[in-house]
Amino acid sequence: MSAAVYVLSTLTGYLLTSALLLKCPGLLHRRKRRTFVSRHISHRGGAGENLENTMAAFKHAVDLGTDMLELDCHLTKDEQVVVSHDANLQRCTGVDTRVADLTYSQLPSYLCRLGVTFQRECFCEGGGDTRIPLLREVFEAFPNTPINIDIKVNNDTLIKKVSELVVSYDREHLTVWGNSSSQIVRKCYRENPSIPLLFSLPRVLQLLGLFYTGLLPFVPLKEQFLEIPMPSIVSKLGDPDRLNRGQRLLVWLADALLMRKSLFKHLTERGIQVYVWVLNDEEDFRRAFDLGATGVMTDFPSRLKDFMDQNGISRLE
Ligand SMILES: *[C@@H]1O[C@H](CO)[C@@H](O)[C@H](O)[C@H]1NC(C)=O
Ligand SMILES: *[C@@H]1O[C@H](CO)[C@@H](O)[C@H](O)[C@H]1NC(C)=O
Repeated sequence: MSAAVYVLSTLTGYLLTSALLLKCPGLLHRRKRRTFVSRHISHRGGAGENLENTMAAFKHAVDLGTDMLELDCHLTKDEQVVVSHDANLQRCTGVDTRVADLTYSQLPSYLCRLGVTFQRECFCEGGGDTRIPLLREVFEAFPNTPINIDIKVNNDTLIKKVSELVVSYDREHLTVWGNSSSQIVRKCYRENPSIPLLFSLPRVLQLLGLFYTGLLPFVPLKEQFLEIPMPSIVSKLGDPDRLNRGQRLLVWLADALLMRKSLFKHLTERGIQVYVWVLNDEEDFRRAFDLGATGVMTDFPSRLKDFMDQNGISRLE
């Protein structure tokens, strides 16, 4: 047999096996056990309908029937785990100070009106609740609601304390945690391997590399959640004319590479949930669910709920 024929037949064998395993991952991998499935996820508690990351926001979202709260954590100077997105409080409170430099009782209150990061020229007017809550309070108030925790600082004490809280409130089966930094995600895993993990950014890139070379179906994955942006929303966030050609091309390419039905299908069949963020209109909700995403993160929980009700998208699989 000539070398060319040998190489060709081996390559064909590889591609066929890869295609088969992409479609039927169960032949090689045990499907991950899922303790909850979230279709409706409230980003920062629903930052478009209440002040982000406040108890009022979480309560509104849970009352509405959200499947999951997404929130962010920091550590105060007296080592309390608080729910806040930014490290510096200028944007949210108008005070130029860092969460890490104040004790919990010294933290300022939120402004009554906050910009909504993922909705162009949109501000949220809060009701009465402007307090930065403790993570513990959220766990106490919503003992049965799955929570997605973004660890916002690479701080070992923060990771340890979050793990301790998750364990003491018996929520390991209701939690996913992580960050875009692979270092933080590695630390989370080392601290408590029984809390489900999300893919860090380097791992997302690796995942895409594996997918496009046909290797993904052969590789075991330790993460249980893929949480990715829908790149096309960039054009809705700012003035589209402000993006130059190169940037527009990059957004298009990222969107084409990431938003793949066959990738989502393969992962969900392996028991890995795919969440797309942060979507705030019906066009994007529809696109994400049509692509086979497990869930959608939104700043507008009521909007997403209405969309799901109208389109018969069920809460449970
Ligand atoms: C973690 O945070 C605490 C409280 O803010 C701080 O005292 C400590 O120095 C931080 N550790 C690291 C490694 O940054
Ligand atoms: C990840 O952590 C970094 C700090 O190390 C922070 O700036 C960033 O906002 C975090 N990202 C997410 C998605 O949590």
